[in-house]
Amino acid sequence: MRQAIELARRGEGATSPNPLVGAVLVSRGRVIAEGYHPRFGAAHAEPRLLAKLSGRSIPPDAELFLTLEPCSYHGKTPPCVDALLASPIRRFVVATTDPNPKVRGRGITALRRAGRQVRLGVLASEAKLLNLPYFTSRREGRARVTLKIASTADGMVADFGGGSRWITGAQARREVGRLRARCDAIVVGRGTVERDDPRLRSSTNPSRSPTRIVLDSRLRVDPNCRLARLWREDVGVLAGTSGTQVGNWLQSEERRSVRWVRRPRLVVVAADPPARRRAAFERAGWEIWNLPADSGRIDLRALAGRASREGLIDLLVEPGPALVAGFLGSGPVDRILLFLAPKILGGKRGWSGSMAPRALGSALRAALRGPTKAVGPDLLLELTGPRGRALVPASRLRNGVDSL
Ligand SMILES: NC(=O)c1ccc[n+]([C@@H]2O[C@H](COP(=O)([O-])OP(=O)(O)OC[C@H]3O[C@@H](n4cnc5c(N)ncnc54)[C@H](OP(=O)(O)O)[C@@H]3O)[C@@H](O)[C@H]2O)c1
Repeated sequence: MRQAIELARRGEGATSPNPLVGAVLVSRGRVIAEGYHPRFGAAHAEPRLLAKLSGRSIPPDAELFLTLEPCSYHGKTPPCVDALLASPIRRFVVATTDPNPKVRGRGITALRRAGRQVRLGVLASEAKLLNLPYFTSRREGRARVTLKIASTADGMVADFGGGSRWITGAQARREVGRLRARCDAIVVGRGTVERDDPRLRSSTNPSRSPTRIVLDSRLRVDPNCRLARLWREDVGVLAGTSGTQVGNWLQSEERRSVRWVRRPRLVVVAADPPARRRAAFERAGWEIWNLPADSGRIDLRALAGRASREGLIDLLVEPGPALVAGFLGSGPVDRILLFLAPKILGGKRGWSGSMAPRALGSALRAALRGPTKAVGPDLLLELTGPRGRALVPASRLRNGVDSL
């Protein structure tokens, strides 16, 4: 199962809002075939594995390890469970059921009803962790939220003049590039756009660019900031892409092969903005999400719910101190990825500096997930809530995103 989970990871950043899935067929302790879901729009793990077996005989003792129960309904592809029932495989080991209401145990029931042996729950927590954005979106109707912060050893995110380039080294920045390439959307606050006019790029390849979301209650940033100019460049590069659009993906035909690329999206989130500003943003190409206010600022739980319904189930927030305070105050925050540079700046520009101070006894308690990782000269800490739960939970939202 561990091997199937590793295999599933190969689809990271390419399958959303659908889950990562790996499948490994084993006979007498030897792997005889593998399959995984490589990207949105491609065949699922199970039919890919079965295709590799075509023309080969399958030993009667063969056991199929699946990281997620097989789907049992017609989506863009026929139900995987039908393909499995048409195969001679009789033994299945499944890590976890699929929280999608169209499946939710039906794949397992179909296998068992047909007399197949199914062992359920092997490495279930690891398999859920693999698909945390998918499980969070299906169960809570919201996106998974990661805060990414780069700070000095004394917690500063900018120097006395406000400069924050570069706190961490080149390797940490490459790691951030990989995080950006795997998420669905990068979220920043108005303060960061006004001060840094950032690019928020993961690579120069527009077909891999996640959606950019700016939180700006009254639409005060420059609608023609660098993010908008880069977005227009991406749209221009992908202009030749054939018309089919499904959710956040565009179908592209290249050298007679069809593939799906990310649809460039640029979103500004406001709370009841003035009409004149709306028009300026619309002219510059922005999508405007008008969300409810929470104490005069954007309701961040509504943001995570809206993102999930838009098929953006994995948000990477790159917050300044004000947005850190907003997220840690109301949630939801699933984890913080804290890059710590061995530098000391002093001053008052700490990443938690805008939070209301707490007494030690009521400190927000975090747990370290996994080992602390050295990234070049810097350190990377992953902070979650106790036992891997959300650091700051959100109350349950309705309306999860539908699988596309
Ligand atoms: N080292 C790092 O990891 C890192 C990362 C990002 C930024 N930075 C640095 O941080 C500085 C900017 O930080 P900042 O604190 O001024 O601004 P910020 O956190 O980037 O943005 C804050 C703004 O977002 C808007 N916002 C909307 N809804 C919100 C909510 N619910 N909670 C909080 N804010 C909300 C507010 O403006 P409205 O009220 O007008 O909507 C608020 O002023 C820059 O110096 C930048 O370089 C460092």
